Amino acid sequence: MSDPRPIGVFDSGVGGLSVLREIRALLPAEDLLYCADSGHSPYGEKPQALIAARSLEICDFLLGQGAKALVIACNTATAAAAGTIRARWPQVPVIGVEPAVKPATAATRKGVVGVLATTGTLESARFAALLDRFGHGVDVVTRSGTGLVDLIEQGEFDSPRLRSLLQQHLAPLREAGADTVVLGCTHYIFLRPLIAELLGPEVSLIDTGAAVANQVQRKLAERAMLADESKTGHEQFWASGNLDVVRHSLNLLWPGCSGVTALPPSVCMNPLSERNP
Ligand code: DGL
Repeated sequence: MSDPRPIGVFDSGVGGLSVLREIRALLPAEDLLYCADSGHSPYGEKPQALIAARSLEICDFLLGQGAKALVIACNTATAAAAGTIRARWPQVPVIGVEPAVKPATAATRKGVVGVLATTGTLESARFAALLDRFGHGVDVVTRSGTGLVDLIEQGEFDSPRLRSLLQQHLAPLREAGADTVVLGCTHYIFLRPLIAELLGPEVSLIDTGAAVANQVQRKLAERAMLADESKTGHEQFWASGNLDVVRHSLNLLWPGCSGVTALPPSVCMNPLSERNP
């Protein structure tokens, strides 16, 4: 049995494309829908209630487009909204993203792990629970990468101001002696070459993109919901915010992208300010 319906994927912006490319590599037959909520980016500095409301709006849109599963390609939105999304649509497979604390604590040789993530992720109960489960016996040093997402959204991956900001964020991790650094935001995965250069070859970088793709495959396979392997999957992109800016980054990060469509205005509104003007 196969299921031709698409998989819905979303993030606060273009960061989740780092997860989308892993899903594409593992599941070439699947049709993929991607929503970049760039009009509300960065999620990392916003209240959890707003992120949860935005996530519900976007998931509702993706399901309306026929999505058979939802991938929250965003650590911050997973922390703020995974529980709410699963409660709203209990019959839909929902796959989230969490900072790779577990593999990092297993991999560190010196017993010092760095985690670079958004403020929203680092301050979440979900992250506290991760540390509680896997952080014992290891020194976990965290740093919020404030400002990085804004630059990445504008298509900057190695500009002088990005380098200097990144150097500031990496300094405490380096000074603490971290030999393993978790890229705990899907946007930061696009900075991997620069981060590797700045931290040097003795520091290992860990992210969860491939593990998330495996999880998508597993969840769909166990429900007989994978697409027919003989077909070729396609991608479709939507975004909120300034489409010219999104198009620019999308073209850099997804060569051959067929274009991006504006999310309908009703999906783009700030749900909290609409309810509480
Ligand atoms: N890419 C997202 C994450 O993984 C969120 C970045 C943001 O909007 O702050 O956390």
